[in-house]
Amino acid sequence: MPATQPAVLVSEERIQARVSELARRISEDYAAADEVVLVGVLRGCYIFLADLSRRLTIPRRIDFIALASYGQTGTVPGAVRLIMDLRGDIAGKHVIIVEDIVDTGNTLQYLLGALRPRGPASLKTCALLRKPDRIRTDVPIDYLGFDIPDVWVVGYGLDYGDRNRALPYIGVVEAGA
Ligand code: IMP
Ligand code: MG
Repeated sequence: MPATQPAVLVSEERIQARVSELARRISEDYAAADEVVLVGVLRGCYIFLADLSRRLTIPRRIDFIALASYGQTGTVPGAVRLIMDLRGDIAGKHVIIVEDIVDTGNTLQYLLGALRPRGPASLKTCALLRKPDRIRTDVPIDYLGFDIPDVWVVGYGLDYGDRNRALPYIGVVEAGA
């Protein structure tokens, strides 16, 4: 049986236009800074971060952090736990956390709490997607791509059971798929 492709929620064209717009805004906002440190939250951020970082016109460094996230296929959030820390020191640096998607907001809230005590010069957040119906905290998102409905999405780095990350668009996974 041929596998059905996830239905398009946000097209490749819309994603690319929005990523360019976010990169332009960040480049403007940090024009006076020596450099920014983009902290990618693995693994879902990797394609978004690659595209975003290449479009910035300001000096930038890239670092990564990994958190224990949801189960392989489940939709029930687990406790947030740091499983891989940053390589670099962020004290005195201008830091932007780059997330694929903010669902309940727990992950971003946890990260802000974990990184703030390290003394960055500034700490902001950037997320490609947000599910406003699911958010449980009033976590600030300084640079946001799109608000989406409460559905499970894949593509552009996001997965369902580690599949469909490489789709060029954001697609919706059928319930029970
Ligand atoms: P939060 O802590 O509830 O905000 O969850 C954030 C994390 O859950 C994201 O960084 C994703 O890794 C994962 N996640 C939440 N919703 C989706 C989705 O629809 N597709 C893929 N991953 C998701
Ligand atoms: Mg993530």
